[in-house]
Amino acid sequence: MAEPLLDVRALSKRFAGSGDGVFAVKEASFTLQRGETMGLVGESGCGKSTLARLLLNLIIPDQGSVVIDGTVFTGAPRRAQRKLRRRVQIVFQDALSSLNPRMTVGVNIAEPMRLQGLGTATERRAAVRALLDLVGLRAGDSERYPHEFSGGQCQRIAIARALILRPDIVVFDEAVSALDVSIRAQILRLMLDLQQRFGLAYLFISHDLGVVRRVSDRIAVMYLGRIVELGPAEELCRAPLHPYTAALLRAIPIADPRRMRVNDLGLTEGEAARPDKRMPGCAFQPRCAQRLPRCAHEPPALATLSTGRSVACFLHSSADHSTGLTRSDVP
Ligand SMILES: Nc1ncnc2c1ncn2[C@@H]1O[C@H](COP(=O)(O)OP(=O)(O)OP(=O)(O)O)[C@@H](O)[C@H]1O
Ligand SMILES: [Mg+2]
Repeated sequence: MAEPLLDVRALSKRFAGSGDGVFAVKEASFTLQRGETMGLVGESGCGKSTLARLLLNLIIPDQGSVVIDGTVFTGAPRRAQRKLRRRVQIVFQDALSSLNPRMTVGVNIAEPMRLQGLGTATERRAAVRALLDLVGLRAGDSERYPHEFSGGQCQRIAIARALILRPDIVVFDEAVSALDVSIRAQILRLMLDLQQRFGLAYLFISHDLGVVRRVSDRIAVMYLGRIVELGPAEELCRAPLHPYTAALLRAIPIADPRRMRVNDLGLTEGEAARPDKRMPGCAFQPRCAQRLPRCAHEPPALATLSTGRSVACFLHSSADHSTGLTRSDVP
C-alpha cells in the first residue's frame, strides 16, 4: 500500500490531575490515506478532541509521533512545523466562537494565509472570493461580520478558512453536532463535494455513530483514551467486534447520545470507568457483559485480525488463536 498521508504512531497524552494524572489519549495509532474519511467516535471525555489537538501539533504528546507524508511533524524544527501545519486544518463545533467577531468574514477567512505570510493583500482577497463561492456564500459576504450569519453559514465560513491554505487533511471536531438536521445534511453534502473536488482526507469526529457511519470510509472507536476498534465503516457497523462498539450501535436511536447513561447503553451496571483510575485490565470491563476473568488483569492490545479489522478485546484474540490467525500490534 502507498505510504499513508497521515501516520499516527502510538500517541499518548496525560494531563496533570490526581495521582498519576489523567490519560486523555493512550497509545493511539492509525493511518489516513489521501481522499479518505476516518470517523472517530466515542463518548464525551474519551479523548477525541485531545487526539485532534495532538494531530495538529497544538499540544505535544508525551509519547508517539504524527507523521505527514513521511515527514515527522511532532518535534520537527520550527520551519518544518510551520510548513506541515498548513497541511492539517480543523473545523470546530462552535463556528461562531471560533471566528473573530471583530473581523469581517473576509479577514477571518484570510487570517491563516496572513499568519503564514502568504500572498499579497490582493491575492488573499481573491482567494477569499473563490472560497466564498465554493462554500455557497456570496462574494459580498466577505464585508459582513460573523454574528450576522446563522450557525450553518458560520460553519461554511469556518470551512472556507480551513481550506485557504490548501490543506491535505481537515479535522472536523463535532463540526455538525450543533446543527439542525436539515442544515447538518447541507453541510455534510458540502464537505463531501469539497472532498471530491480537492482529494481531501478527513478525520470526522463525533460522539454520534449514526452520523459517523454515514460519512466515513473507516471508523475508529475510542474508549477512555484508547482506540478499541478500527475497521471499514460498513463492516464495523454491520458486525461490531468490540462489545463497546456494539453498545454504541444499539444506542443510535437515542436522540442525544451525550446524555446517555450506562444503562441506556444496555451495558452491565458496574463501576463506571474513570480515566484517572489505575486499571490494570481492560478499561471497558467494568461495563462489559462479556468480560472474561483475564480482562480484569491484562489490558488487551489493539490487534489486527486477518480480515484487516482491528480490535482490542480478548474475545477476538482468543478466537484468533484457535483459528491460527496472526496477531500483530497496531497495523
Ligand atoms: N487541558 C486539559 N487539562 C486537563 N485535562 C484535560 C484537558 N483537556 C482534556 N482533558 C481531559 O482529558 C479527557 C479527554 O478530553 P477530550 O476533550 O479530549 O474528550 P472528548 O472525547 O473530545 O469529549 P467531548 O465529546 O465532550 O468533546 C477528559 O477526561 C478531559 O477532562
Ligand atoms: Mg471534544
